Amino acid sequence: MTPATSVAAAGAAPRVSGVALDRFSYDDAIVRKFLFATLIWGVVGMVAGLLIALQLANPIFNLGLEWTSFGRLRPLHTNAVIFAFAGNAFFTGCYYSTQRLLKARMFSDGLSNFHFWGWQAIIVSAALTLPFGFTQAKEYAELEWPIDIAIAVVWVAFAVNFFGTLVKRRERHIYVALWFYIASIVTVAILHIFNNLSVPAGFLKSYSIYAGVQDAFMQWWYGHNAVAFFLTTPFLGLMYYFMPKAAEGPVFSYKLSILHFWSLVFMYIWAGPHHLHYTALPEWASTVGMLFSVMLWAPSWGGMINGLLTLRGAWHKVAQDPILKFFVVGVTAYGMSTFEGPMLSIKSVNALAHYTDWIIAHVHTGALGWNGFMTFGIVYWLLPRVFQAPVFSKKAMELH
Ligand code: HEM
Ligand code: HEM
Repeated sequence: MTPATSVAAAGAAPRVSGVALDRFSYDDAIVRKFLFATLIWGVVGMVAGLLIALQLANPIFNLGLEWTSFGRLRPLHTNAVIFAFAGNAFFTGCYYSTQRLLKARMFSDGLSNFHFWGWQAIIVSAALTLPFGFTQAKEYAELEWPIDIAIAVVWVAFAVNFFGTLVKRRERHIYVALWFYIASIVTVAILHIFNNLSVPAGFLKSYSIYAGVQDAFMQWWYGHNAVAFFLTTPFLGLMYYFMPKAAEGPVFSYKLSILHFWSLVFMYIWAGPHHLHYTALPEWASTVGMLFSVMLWAPSWGGMINGLLTLRGAWHKVAQDPILKFFVVGVTAYGMSTFEGPMLSIKSVNALAHYTDWIIAHVHTGALGWNGFMTFGIVYWLLPRVFQAPVFSKKAMELH
């Protein structure tokens, strides 16, 4: 198959017993674009992470400039790694797998390209405005209102393209990976729009429509579910497509995948208040957040166990295959962070851990361990398939 995988050769439609065969091809050019963007923004985001880590160790690395100070570069790091690195990684895997799972080219190549260039333009505007100090001061929702509107428009274009593909699909069954994509696409739109409702007070200045504790509550409803629906459900969808592919075997339990999907999406949405223990938030809301977070352990581990058991009978391959190694570490890190998260949400544990580096460690077990390692595995699996060339060096993959 060629890069723009052609299912039927060009020319007149082939016929079998006088019936014209359906002809379609996949758009892999968009996959390659998102893949490049993932790698480029991964480098930018992680170099920014390294720089702010150095700044924590020695303030000299602030370079004495306001634009390069910790307070301005920290959100640059978080935005770059979450929305640019992990975001583009999700889009890469989503465009590749959706077309194959639905046996259909994307609904509109125009919308795919609009999504790609629009998203990159948003990232560039984030990289420009954050160092200059333009911010809504809401974590993971720092970007000012004109950029927020652009995000909503581009996201809706992505949604139209995705659901359009779903409608024109040739495969009746909607595989579980697609359910995870659907949940991510719908929920991210809702979270983003409601948390960012604000009154503009200038080109790059606005005030949230929520005040006081309601603003904090809204913010962490968003913040926690950004973890859930931007960093977790998209990557579970990717796991369900790419792990069985790499292991060359079926997913361990399809029933479990459906069960943990519905319980996960139901429970996640209530857990946000665990970010606001011991604040002005009413005690009962804090307790509800804690209870749902503790319950969340079960569906999270449902996904982790399903991922790891997909490798049953293929463990001997893990030793030889760096891609499977990335997946094993990624899914294990998911299991670790989703054990640690529920524990951190217990009020007495949170009293010890909040405002300490323990939270930062938890974040990176999830973000770098789960999202990072899954991304690297997917990128290495995709490279030879979308570029029609073997990966440059297997040794370098092992070292990586
Ligand atoms: C080379 C890799 C990385 C390095 C060196 C790094 C470094 C850092 C540092 C120094 C901080 C600030 C910690 C503090 O304020 O005490 C931070 C925060 C953060 N990083 Fe990273 N990081 C890396 C990769 C990633 C990746 C891949 C992601 C997400 C996909 C990520 C997401 C975050 C988030 C969400 C925070 C904010 C945590 C919080 O507010 O609790 N990081 N990182
Ligand atoms: C069952 C799943 C999880 C639960 C219940 C959970 C719970 C928690 C709790 C209690 C905190 C500390 C809040 C605080 O004291 O400030 C936290 C912070 C955080 N977690 Fe998780 N976590 C889970 C999974 C994950 C995963 C898989 C990731 C990443 C992919 C992640 C990313 C984060 C981030 C980015 C923060 C820092 C938020 C901030 O900026 O303050 N979590 N989580």
